[in-house]
Amino acid sequence: MAKLLVLHGPNLNLLGTREPQIYGHETLSDIDADLRARAMEKGHDLETFQSNAEHELVARVQATREDDTDFILINPAAFTHTSVALRDALAAVGLPFIEVHLSNPHAREPFRQTSYFSDLAVGVVSGFGPLSYGLALVAAMRQIDGTE
Ligand code: DQA
Repeated sequence: MAKLLVLHGPNLNLLGTREPQIYGHETLSDIDADLRARAMEKGHDLETFQSNAEHELVARVQATREDDTDFILINPAAFTHTSVALRDALAAVGLPFIEVHLSNPHAREPFRQTSYFSDLAVGVVSGFGPLSYGLALVAAMRQIDGTE
Protein backbone atom coordinates (compact mmCIF):
# COMPACT_ATOMS: atom_id res chain seq x y z
CA MET A 1 0.00 0.00 0.00
CA ALA A 2 1.32 3.43 -0.95
CA LYS A 3 0.37 6.79 0.42
CA LEU A 4 -0.55 9.51 -2.07
CA LEU A 5 -1.03 13.17 -1.24
CA VAL A 6 -3.14 15.47 -3.44
CA LEU A 7 -2.45 19.18 -2.99
CA HIS A 8 -4.72 21.90 -4.32
CA GLY A 9 -3.69 25.56 -4.47
CA PRO A 10 -5.60 28.82 -4.14
CA ASN A 11 -9.19 29.27 -5.32
CA LEU A 12 -9.66 25.59 -6.07
CA ASN A 13 -11.97 25.49 -3.03
CA LEU A 14 -14.38 27.43 -5.27
CA LEU A 15 -14.60 24.73 -7.95
CA GLY A 16 -18.15 24.19 -9.10
CA THR A 17 -18.98 27.89 -9.08
CA ARG A 18 -15.65 29.41 -10.13
CA GLU A 19 -15.59 30.27 -13.86
CA PRO A 20 -17.37 26.98 -14.73
CA GLN A 21 -16.81 27.61 -18.45
CA ILE A 22 -13.09 27.09 -17.73
CA TYR A 23 -13.02 24.83 -14.67
CA GLY A 24 -16.26 22.85 -14.97
CA HIS A 25 -19.11 22.18 -12.55
CA GLU A 26 -17.59 19.54 -10.29
CA THR A 27 -16.76 20.60 -6.75
CA LEU A 28 -13.44 19.97 -5.08
CA SER A 29 -15.04 17.56 -2.65
CA ASP A 30 -16.48 15.56 -5.60
CA ILE A 31 -13.02 15.39 -7.14
CA ASP A 32 -11.36 14.43 -3.85
CA ALA A 33 -13.94 11.73 -3.07
CA ASP A 34 -13.52 10.23 -6.54
CA LEU A 35 -9.72 10.15 -6.22
CA ARG A 36 -9.88 8.60 -2.74
CA ALA A 37 -12.24 5.87 -3.97
CA ARG A 38 -10.07 5.08 -7.00
CA ALA A 39 -6.90 4.89 -4.92
CA MET A 40 -8.60 2.72 -2.31
CA GLU A 41 -9.82 0.35 -5.05
CA LYS A 42 -6.16 -0.29 -5.89
CA GLY A 43 -5.20 -0.68 -2.23
CA HIS A 44 -3.65 2.76 -1.75
CA ASP A 45 -4.26 5.47 0.78
CA LEU A 46 -4.94 8.99 -0.56
CA GLU A 47 -5.10 12.22 1.41
CA THR A 48 -6.15 15.60 0.04
CA PHE A 49 -5.30 19.13 1.18
CA GLN A 50 -6.36 22.51 -0.20
CA SER A 51 -5.11 25.90 0.89
CA ASN A 52 -5.23 29.46 -0.35
CA ALA A 53 -2.06 30.19 1.62
CA GLU A 54 1.37 29.54 0.17
CA HIS A 55 2.95 28.93 3.58
CA GLU A 56 0.37 26.24 4.43
CA LEU A 57 1.12 24.38 1.22
CA VAL A 58 4.86 24.67 1.89
CA ALA A 59 4.30 23.33 5.42
CA ARG A 60 2.21 20.42 4.12
CA VAL A 61 4.92 19.50 1.62
CA GLN A 62 7.58 19.69 4.37
CA ALA A 63 5.44 17.45 6.60
CA THR A 64 5.75 14.63 4.06
CA ARG A 65 9.25 14.06 5.49
CA GLU A 66 7.57 12.55 8.53
CA ASP A 67 4.34 11.00 7.29
CA ASP A 68 5.41 8.28 4.83
CA THR A 69 3.98 9.98 1.73
CA ASP A 70 5.19 8.16 -1.39
CA PHE A 71 3.86 10.33 -4.21
CA ILE A 72 2.31 13.79 -4.64
CA LEU A 73 -0.24 15.07 -7.13
CA ILE A 74 -0.30 18.86 -7.08
CA ASN A 75 -2.39 21.50 -8.76
CA PRO A 76 -0.53 24.59 -7.58
CA ALA A 77 -3.20 26.78 -9.27
CA ALA A 78 -1.99 30.40 -9.47
CA PHE A 79 1.14 29.47 -7.51
CA THR A 80 2.18 27.48 -10.59
CA HIS A 81 3.24 30.75 -12.14
CA THR A 82 4.68 32.50 -9.08
CA SER A 83 5.90 30.26 -6.28
CA VAL A 84 9.60 29.62 -5.96
CA ALA A 85 8.91 28.74 -2.30
CA LEU A 86 6.56 25.85 -3.14
CA ARG A 87 8.89 24.63 -5.86
CA ASP A 88 11.80 24.67 -3.40
CA ALA A 89 9.74 22.72 -0.84
CA LEU A 90 9.05 19.98 -3.39
CA ALA A 91 12.70 19.92 -4.41
CA ALA A 92 13.73 19.72 -0.75
CA VAL A 93 11.60 16.69 0.08
CA GLY A 94 12.50 15.04 -3.22
CA LEU A 95 9.30 13.02 -3.60
CA PRO A 96 8.05 12.23 -7.09
CA PHE A 97 5.13 14.44 -8.10
CA ILE A 98 2.77 15.05 -11.01
CA GLU A 99 1.64 18.59 -11.85
CA VAL A 100 -2.09 18.76 -12.60
CA HIS A 101 -4.27 21.45 -14.17
CA LEU A 102 -7.95 21.41 -15.03
CA SER A 103 -7.48 23.85 -17.89
CA ASN A 104 -4.67 23.92 -20.43
CA PRO A 105 -2.56 26.87 -19.27
CA HIS A 106 -0.71 26.88 -22.61
CA ALA A 107 -3.92 27.78 -24.41
CA ARG A 108 -4.57 30.75 -22.08
CA GLU A 109 -2.93 34.06 -21.14
CA PRO A 110 0.86 34.32 -21.65
CA PHE A 111 1.51 34.63 -17.88
CA ARG A 112 0.07 31.11 -17.40
CA GLN A 113 2.61 29.62 -19.74
CA THR A 114 5.41 29.66 -17.18
CA SER A 115 5.46 26.93 -14.54
CA TYR A 116 7.88 26.77 -11.64
CA PHE A 117 7.09 23.04 -11.31
CA SER A 118 7.07 21.31 -14.68
CA ASP A 119 10.81 20.70 -14.96
CA LEU A 120 10.87 18.94 -11.57
CA ALA A 121 7.67 16.95 -12.15
CA VAL A 122 7.51 13.32 -13.25
CA GLY A 123 4.87 14.58 -15.69
CA VAL A 124 2.20 17.19 -16.27
CA VAL A 125 -1.50 16.53 -16.98
CA SER A 126 -3.60 19.49 -18.05
CA GLY A 127 -6.63 20.45 -20.07
CA PHE A 128 -9.05 17.63 -19.25
CA GLY A 129 -11.05 19.23 -16.47
CA PRO A 130 -11.53 16.99 -13.41
CA LEU A 131 -10.34 14.06 -15.54
CA SER A 132 -6.83 15.57 -15.38
CA TYR A 133 -6.68 14.46 -11.74
CA GLY A 134 -7.95 10.97 -12.58
CA LEU A 135 -5.38 10.56 -15.36
CA ALA A 136 -2.62 11.79 -13.07
CA LEU A 137 -3.70 9.27 -10.43
CA VAL A 138 -3.54 6.40 -12.94
CA ALA A 139 -0.04 7.53 -13.94
CA ALA A 140 1.05 7.86 -10.29
CA MET A 141 -0.23 4.38 -9.40
CA ARG A 142 1.55 2.88 -12.39
CA GLN A 143 4.78 4.52 -11.27
CA ILE A 144 4.25 3.22 -7.74
CA ASP A 145 3.48 -0.30 -8.95
CA GLY A 146 6.54 -0.19 -11.19
CA THR A 147 4.54 -0.79 -14.36
CA GLU A 148 5.90 2.41 -15.99
C1 DQA B 1 -5.14 26.03 -12.90
C2 DQA B 1 -4.55 26.98 -13.95
C3 DQA B 1 -3.90 28.19 -13.29
O1 DQA B 1 -3.37 29.06 -14.27
C4 DQA B 1 -4.94 28.95 -12.48
O2 DQA B 1 -4.33 30.03 -11.80
C5 DQA B 1 -5.72 28.10 -11.55
C6 DQA B 1 -6.10 26.76 -11.97
C7 DQA B 1 -5.94 24.87 -13.54
O3 DQA B 1 -6.19 23.89 -12.84
O4 DQA B 1 -6.31 24.95 -14.71
O5 DQA B 1 -6.11 28.54 -10.47
O6 DQA B 1 -4.07 25.48 -12.15
